[in-house]
Amino acid sequence: AGYVGQNPDSKAQEVVIAGLRRLEYRGYDSAGIALLTPAFDDPLVVRAVGKLVNLERALEDADIPDATTAIGHTRWATHGEAVVENAHPQVSEDRAVALVHNGIIENYAELKHQLREEGAEFTSDTDTEVVAHLLSKAMADPTLTPWDGELPGISGEQAKVGATMMAAMLAVTRRLVGSYTLLMVHRDAPNVVVASRRSSPLVIGVGEGANYLGSDALAFADYTTSALEIGQDQVVGVTPEGVVVVDRDGETVDPREFNVDFLRDRADKDGWDTFMEKEIHEQPEAVRATLEGRLDAKGALTLDEVRIPESLLRSVDKVVIIACGTAAYAGQVARYAIEHWCRIPVEVELAHEFRYRDPVVNEKTLVVAISQSGETMDTIMAIRHAREQGARVVSIVNTPGSTIARESDAVLLTHAGPEIAVASTKAFTAQITACYLLGLYLAQIRGNKYIDEIHDYLDKLAQIPDKMQEVLDSGESVRQIARAMADEESVLFLGRHVGYPVAMEGALKLKEIAYIHAEGFAAGELKHGPIALVEEGQPVFIVVPTPRRPELHQKTVSNVQQVKARGAKTMVIAEVGDDSVDEYADIVFRVPPAPTLYLPLLQVMPLQIFACALAGAKGLDVDQPRNLAKSVTVE
Ligand code: G6P
Ligand code: GLU
Repeated sequence: AGYVGQNPDSKAQEVVIAGLRRLEYRGYDSAGIALLTPAFDDPLVVRAVGKLVNLERALEDADIPDATTAIGHTRWATHGEAVVENAHPQVSEDRAVALVHNGIIENYAELKHQLREEGAEFTSDTDTEVVAHLLSKAMADPTLTPWDGELPGISGEQAKVGATMMAAMLAVTRRLVGSYTLLMVHRDAPNVVVASRRSSPLVIGVGEGANYLGSDALAFADYTTSALEIGQDQVVGVTPEGVVVVDRDGETVDPREFNVDFLRDRADKDGWDTFMEKEIHEQPEAVRATLEGRLDAKGALTLDEVRIPESLLRSVDKVVIIACGTAAYAGQVARYAIEHWCRIPVEVELAHEFRYRDPVVNEKTLVVAISQSGETMDTIMAIRHAREQGARVVSIVNTPGSTIARESDAVLLTHAGPEIAVASTKAFTAQITACYLLGLYLAQIRGNKYIDEIHDYLDKLAQIPDKMQEVLDSGESVRQIARAMADEESVLFLGRHVGYPVAMEGALKLKEIAYIHAEGFAAGELKHGPIALVEEGQPVFIVVPTPRRPELHQKTVSNVQQVKARGAKTMVIAEVGDDSVDEYADIVFRVPPAPTLYLPLLQVMPLQIFACALAGAKGLDVDQPRNLAKSVTVE
């Protein structure tokens, strides 16, 4: 995050720290800030290992005067351990340049080698430090191609230095391979931040007499509602008076402006202890909002943005869903619905696996990319690959204007609101909901379903939020049991049909935030291996299908019996009124009846509540689990 303000008492540090706090979910191995004001010599750099509070303490201890310009960073280490030397900002050898970076410079070793040959010395193991050195060298290089634009509202020596920063950023980024968002300040231009991005997010907030930089508009949504989208390989010069955006050749471009009002007031805990609890409880609303306003004047289902001709959607012969983590489990649920409604084969694949296996994809393939952040690098790379092969991409994202939304041929937004807890909850149920909409939309276009049938499915879907609320209302029973299980070392999860991805998502939640070894299995697979793990007292969750689908239900109830017979502690999620499980279940969590395809929206909730309460009981940081980041912007 970054800030440039005019006012000598604008306290740039406070604005940037507040911005980092909003984005802390992105990474938090260490944090740092560089401050500038006309009275300072070099950029003043303060860094600390661990969470942002440590940086805040370090800043308090250092008793620093108010600054007018600041750049700050929370790090998710890729090159070098989480130690102070590797925290950002990284500075150039002459200490004139300070730089923060998200992403990875893939050719950093080669560049570092060259710099070393020229006598450079490094103080960190990061790829970032190399860029800081290169920028300062470029600024001193008499052969540097000048940038002939002007930074708004500054003059004299500072204007010259600012223009040289722009020229250096343009020249250096040309040599970089990889992905980055870079924010740079220089000793001799205390009112300038120069930034650049490639395959990594950057947005600019436009204020009055002050401007903001962030990898997410959330960073500055408290200060301004107006933001600018920065495109691939663009370089930005920001002063208190204005913003200049140029393309890789230094030519001025007009950035698209967007309003970030929708982010305000939605990123606070609202009285909950953790964001995760708050977000679990926001799920009925997230699903409702995702369903809202989807019918056009003729009663036909619509998406948000579609730049794909209907004739093409009719000729699609395969759907490939790509995503990572929780979003990929949403995709697995979606497969059952889309195949059932549209009779098109659906594959679901992890984006990073899809990208590198030479997949069979062509003009007749519809790729569906699912991502909460819209910034997951693995997913972005998979989308690019699919489009190169001629496939059309529909993305389901929670962040309007994100890279994935921009690079897709059609967008369907999940209106879950900002999700802050690293472990995804409301985005998951909103993603599943959006997938249902997409499935029904395709069925409508392709003539697999009549409008009446589609309305019937939509009506039933519209009843789900109230049922979700019922599950939440009985959440205390789940929490009690979770608290009593804080010492468990392993938990298994079984599910069949759409309950299978629910089981895997339940296991993922437990791994992510409670650090408990957990595995989700297809219930039918139990006898082919996992049952060997079951011994006396082994907790096993079983997600039981509705009894209205006897072929699914009976076999799953048998699975409950099988693990029970081997001493497992059986924790069953079953429909209200399904007493067939009572005899074999140590614990039953009830969810209201719903159509089979919609049940995951209800059945996943006790598992989310369970993981959250158990992690809390272990005294762990539920919102920011170790080693994880909310959006992983590296491949
Ligand atoms: C990270 C997060 C997960 C998330 C996954 C995909 O690994 O820790 O919670 O499910 O990324 O993120 P996306 O933003 O693409 O949905
Ligand atoms: N690659 C850089 C590092 O490891 C940046 C990591 C990040 O995105 O926070 O320091």
